[in-house]
Amino acid sequence: MADEQGGACDIDQGRRRFLVGTTTLVGAAGAVAAAVPFVASWQPSAKARAAAAPVKVNIAKIEPGQQMVVQWRGQPVFICRRTPQILERLAQNTEHLADPQSRDSDQPGYVDPALRAIKPEVLVVVGICTHLGCSPTFRPEVAAADLGPDWQGGYFCPCHGSHYDLAGRVFKAQPAPLNLAVPAHHYESAEVLVLGVDGEGA
Ligand code: FES
Repeated sequence: MADEQGGACDIDQGRRRFLVGTTTLVGAAGAVAAAVPFVASWQPSAKARAAAAPVKVNIAKIEPGQQMVVQWRGQPVFICRRTPQILERLAQNTEHLADPQSRDSDQPGYVDPALRAIKPEVLVVVGICTHLGCSPTFRPEVAAADLGPDWQGGYFCPCHGSHYDLAGRVFKAQPAPLNLAVPAHHYESAEVLVLGVDGEGA
């Protein structure tokens, strides 16, 4: 009897080992199958790679005092051709700005810290307010009726009213804490700008 029971017990244990082994194999296969789409999702899609690629912009047609807006990495980039008068007015803003030399703001080291540009006459900034991410409007007119007699031209964020000058520098006591970001960029030729890549030697 004991032998029979022992035999039955051996058979059960053998079957159990078989079932455990089978279950483990199936579980491992399931884990591998589940992991494949997960790993695949880490790979950037062709669309994502294209969105992150540098963008070339011909800026020849931007009139003095005007700007164009291009999309780069899913966000607007403002490219403004500044006049000598605009550059003069920028120099008068310093004491009213939160970060006039862009010490805390986001910009590449090869960009002039006050003018925030490689070429003084061409401003390149990401058009996203540093408060909560709205896109500021381009308001180049001096003393605009709705912005007051002291308005020297700049960017106005319609969401909570932040004021920036035409170097993308935020004024003091605004909801936005920092200047508009300057993206990596360089010039391929006099009028062709490449957004998203530093120039050689930068
Ligand atoms: S998002 Fe621009 S001021 Fe709030």
